[in-house]
Amino acid sequence: MKKDFTDVSKHYAARSHEKMKEVLMDPGGNGPVIHYYMIRGGSEQKNVTIWEPGTISGEYIKTYGHYHIGDLSENYWIVYGEGIALIQKLAENEKDEMILDVVEEFRAIPAKPGQKIFMPPGFGHLLVNTGKTYFVTMDDSPVDFEERDPANFPGHADYEPVKKMRGFAYYVVEKNGQPALKRNPLYKTINKEDLGGFPKLDFSC
Ligand SMILES: [Fe+2]
Repeated sequence: MKKDFTDVSKHYAARSHEKMKEVLMDPGGNGPVIHYYMIRGGSEQKNVTIWEPGTISGEYIKTYGHYHIGDLSENYWIVYGEGIALIQKLAENEKDEMILDVVEEFRAIPAKPGQKIFMPPGFGHLLVNTGKTYFVTMDDSPVDFEERDPANFPGHADYEPVKKMRGFAYYVVEKNGQPALKRNPLYKTINKEDLGGFPKLDFSC
C-alpha cells in the first residue's frame, strides 16, 4: 500500500548549516543558512543538486558525504560551475566492517561542466563548490519514494561514518584564492591517495 507522508516534501530537500556543522572543519564557523538544495527524481528523472558558493572558516561549501549501502555505484554529471569531487574507500576488518580512521584509497577529482564522474561501489563521495557561482550536478542514484523523507535522507545512503569522522580525510580549503587539501586529523592512515594536482596543507596551516 502506498504510504502517505504529508509532512515531508517528496522531491525537495535542503541541507542546513545546522546539520552541516556535524562535518565541517570548523563547526563554529559562519555560513549560509542553507548550504545546498536537492531535487530528487531517482534513477530515471535524475537528482539535481545546487550548491551555494562560499567558504566557512576557509572551507568551501560541500555536500555532507555518504557511503552507499550495498553494491551500488553512481554517476554524477557536472552541469554548471566549478568543483571538486572527493571519493574515499575505508579499510575493512575481517567481518567486512569499515575501519573508520583508516582510508584504503582517497581521490580528489576536478569537476568541470560536461564531465561525468563515476562513484565506484564502496567509495564514499562528496562534492565541493570551489567556484564563485552556484555549482550544479545531476546524478542517477536511486530514491525509494515509499520511504519516509526520501528526498532528505534516501535509504541507500549511510551518513553515519562521515558524521563520526567529522567529514572526509581531507577538507577542501581556500588558500591564496585557490583550492587546497587539508588533512582531517581524525583519520590515522591513508594508504593510497591521488590529490588531483591540488596542493596539500599541513594540519597546522
Ligand atoms: Fe551517493
